[in-house]
Amino acid sequence: MLRVDIITIFPDYFSEVFDYGIIRRACAAGLVSIQPHDLRSWTSDKHHVVDDRPFGGGDGMVLKPEPIFAAVESLAGARRRENIAATKRVVLLSPQGKRLTQSIASDFAKSEQLILICGRYEGVDERVADALVTDEISIGDYVLSGGEPAALVVVDATVRLIPGALGSETSVTTESFSEASNGSLDYPHYTRPPEFEGMRVPEVLLTGHHGEIARWRRDAAEEKTKRNRPDLLKKE
Ligand code: ADE
Repeated sequence: MLRVDIITIFPDYFSEVFDYGIIRRACAAGLVSIQPHDLRSWTSDKHHVVDDRPFGGGDGMVLKPEPIFAAVESLAGARRRENIAATKRVVLLSPQGKRLTQSIASDFAKSEQLILICGRYEGVDERVADALVTDEISIGDYVLSGGEPAALVVVDATVRLIPGALGSETSVTTESFSEASNGSLDYPHYTRPPEFEGMRVPEVLLTGHHGEIARWRRDAAEEKTKRNRPDLLKKE
């Protein structure tokens, strides 16, 4: 069972998002348990202040270190990266992080506990990234107003890779970014009708010739990867 703890100032943001499809089924099957936590519950002042002005000046507010260190200590049992068990990952969502990949999601899916810290405002005190977290992760080269949508993306990408979460395991091994797909994108899919508004499904897919279909899919995947994601092909 993977335990996911999400540290956020907007716990209600997550109130329904995990109640659909594969994630809902994985929760019901006991493969994962997902718990949002209010960062403010780890403050000790009357007003539950979680942010403060940046040293050195500048716009916006910065999330204070104390409540975040206290939250991770209570959820992971340690307040320094080096004391956190190897089976646990403490992840800070931020645009300065390492870009999320299928391989990182697959590592997360093998852990026992995933603690996700949602950044906010102009940033998070850097001592969190320096001393506390095991991974600082970005979901892409754009700036969100907070880490919450990114945490949702990490949970979705991770949970579907837990063995048993998907109906058919083969869909994970052949999809985009999988090892079997050679790092290329997935091939194009078609269903009925064979002709729709003048657009025909490629004839080879209607023939039942498995060898030719497999060759067509490999070529079509490569062509689409070249067109949309040439960066994926340059790797090897
Ligand atoms: N917070 C703000 N922008 C983000 C991004 N691109 N990825 C992860 N967390 C973020």
